Amino acid sequence: MNRNLALEFIRVTEMAAIASARQMGRGDEKAADQAAVDAMRSMLDSVECQATVVIGEGERDEAPMLYIGEKVGSGSGPELEIALDPLEGTTICANGGHNAISVMAIGDKGGMLHAPDMYMEKIAVGPECKGVIDINQSATENLKRIAEVKKCRLQNLTAVVLDRPRHKELIHEIRSAGCRIYLIGDGDVSAAIATATDNAGVDVLFGTGGAPEGVIAAAALKCLGGDFQGRLKPRNQDEIHRAQKMGVEDINRVFNLEDLAAGNVMFCATGVTAGSFLDGVIFKPWGALTHSIVMRSETGTVRHIRAEHHFDRKPHY
Ligand code: FBP
Repeated sequence: MNRNLALEFIRVTEMAAIASARQMGRGDEKAADQAAVDAMRSMLDSVECQATVVIGEGERDEAPMLYIGEKVGSGSGPELEIALDPLEGTTICANGGHNAISVMAIGDKGGMLHAPDMYMEKIAVGPECKGVIDINQSATENLKRIAEVKKCRLQNLTAVVLDRPRHKELIHEIRSAGCRIYLIGDGDVSAAIATATDNAGVDVLFGTGGAPEGVIAAAALKCLGGDFQGRLKPRNQDEIHRAQKMGVEDINRVFNLEDLAAGNVMFCATGVTAGSFLDGVIFKPWGALTHSIVMRSETGTVRHIRAEHHFDRKPHY
């Protein structure tokens, strides 16, 4: 994959982040999401590639833009697949909370799992714990393995979990093991990345969130040298059929990093609201400041890009 594309894709997430950040704290999730979708869609066609959205805003009949299967890009250049979330953490943005991001993972054709829009049980860790986790084992067993590798006591570990009633037993188990818990309201992509981020103070992500977000998080952790496992959690027969239609033969299959994001992948994200690994958009009288990250699995290079956007010279903002 052409490395020069990285900066092109950053422009896309920057634009979506700025558009949705205008809606921060305004209590309107739909408006925040729509702003991000419109901005991302309009910027994508300026990128020199022939890309297909494999994870997007939904199936063709539910989403007018950025639907699964939609062709984006300039129409010439490399054939790519894109998993995107113009605004990951719509509720966070609408409430003015932490860790809303605009995000895209880009892979070569055939690289990304075409994950159905349903739940996925996940476990994510940073590079030190690569190869150590096993989603078939209990949370307690995984925590013991992580503590052993990190040479620390269980009491020193922090697990991040989405604050949902479905996680009652999981939370009880982690507490019984003696570990600290960071409960989050939304945004498990940022949380997964935090496990591989120095100073974020998070060792592992456990729990069930969106499967599309699982693929995006897996791509990020692949670039960061971390680890991720996921298993679909369909809620009914209809979801099982949907998964099968999208090519998932064994619904109980454990997907590892390579199953979710095969080959070379690129990941880019721009902070919408302030968070654990990205600052949020800051508006200035003359424009806006953004903080983005772009990384590639091939080289492991992680670039932080801080940009000044001058609205008087770029009127489309
Ligand atoms: P959205 O940005 O689409 O609202 O997703 C936010 C999120 O918290 C994800 O990070 C997470 O994977 C998923 O929702 C969890 O779903 P639910 O809110 O149904 O528990």
